[in-house]
Amino acid sequence: MKVLVVGGGGREHALVETLAASPLEPEMHAAPGNPGIGRIAQIVDIPSDDLISLRDYAKENEIDLTVVGPEDPLIGGIAEAFWEADLKVFGPSRAAARIEGSKVFAKELMKHAGVPTASFEAFDGEPAALAYLRRIGDYPVVVKADGAAGGKGVTVARSREEAENAVRASFGGKFGAAGERIVIEEHLEGREASVFVITDGHEMLPFLPAQDYKRIFDGDEGPNTGGMGSYSPLMWMEPATYAAILEDIIRPTIHQMSLIGAPYSGLLYAGVIVTGDGPKALEFNCRFGDPETQVLLPRMGSDLLELMIASEVGDLAGREITWSADKAVCVVLASEGYPDSSSSGDEISGLENIPTGVYIYHAGTEERDGKFYTAGGRVLNVVGTGPTIIEARARAYAAVEQIHFEGMLYRTDIALEAIELEDI
Ligand code: AMP
Ligand code: GLY
Repeated sequence: MKVLVVGGGGREHALVETLAASPLEPEMHAAPGNPGIGRIAQIVDIPSDDLISLRDYAKENEIDLTVVGPEDPLIGGIAEAFWEADLKVFGPSRAAARIEGSKVFAKELMKHAGVPTASFEAFDGEPAALAYLRRIGDYPVVVKADGAAGGKGVTVARSREEAENAVRASFGGKFGAAGERIVIEEHLEGREASVFVITDGHEMLPFLPAQDYKRIFDGDEGPNTGGMGSYSPLMWMEPATYAAILEDIIRPTIHQMSLIGAPYSGLLYAGVIVTGDGPKALEFNCRFGDPETQVLLPRMGSDLLELMIASEVGDLAGREITWSADKAVCVVLASEGYPDSSSSGDEISGLENIPTGVYIYHAGTEERDGKFYTAGGRVLNVVGTGPTIIEARARAYAAVEQIHFEGMLYRTDIALEAIELEDI
């Protein structure tokens, strides 16, 4: 069995490592991969957005299953390109990936499915959006570019002036075509969580919930990033809340996708906020989250590869995902200047003798003459596991202390609040 993973970040490193450990003993390939992935998979020098070359590679090398990490190839239609060539792919069709590719589409879908979410209005021109802002009295509001804007298209506006600036920036071309339509929505208060399910369009297999940290600095200060850390499970989430997320948010969404003729298969990621009125959906993503995947996959007891194959052929009924009782904490190590810029070419030391219970996933590294160097904003993910969050966190930060590169930047408060909530 041959498996190709598309992508080259920490999420894909975790995916490759987990799939490689399957009892099906797959031969792993990764495009474009990274030096960490290169230790366990054959690296394929094709960028993740070159759909035709990826398809040709999969065909020529008789790849049995392709697993897609990032959203762009899915939004661009990689699943159809593969299906047309009679190749199997784990990931949604282009029509279904619109759930991430268009916020207006996702909000309309939620409205029709009766999924609890922030109330909203969609606009395709600046004057109507500005007129709406003059009519409403309640701030903050949230202004979102419709299309995928690399996580930068969302502004939580505390005043009308801030909201107007966000509207003007979006229609002024700040996010290109992604900002030609916008959503203005109600601001919700509460804790955020990421919940993933594997689905074949009918059945769904839930993952345990995880939480990520989007801001660059401790205490959730500073600009948004691709994610500076994560942990799982979530002690603060009641089982009834988790059940409501699955039954009131995710299940009706999957059902609605089938109803509109865009059945969803692959990994569906719901970003939710647990408000005083119960959980509400913030957004959907059409792929695994990064860095949440890094705290979920090391704890998975089931064979992920077998589940992905079952999902691809519509055979998920009667299956479930089992989990180890361990907890996991991920600390992201970023390079100087991140997220505005990034530095590269700095030698990374301390990656030898990583203790058991700790996983290192490469995100932005390069390898020369057997040494690793920084090569991007997010450089490494350090995941600690253990029977309690305290231990998992201590292991992660002990490993972080051991690693060094010039300008290394990380948060020191990942999962700190979870310790206080931990019942030990
Ligand atoms: P999104 O890409 O829609 O998940 O938005 C990115 C981030 O903006 C979320 O993770 C939240 O922290 C914040 N956010 C988005 N929408 C809202 C909302 N309606 N209320 C409060 N915060 C929000
Ligand atoms: N962790 C946020 C994301 O993957 O979009």
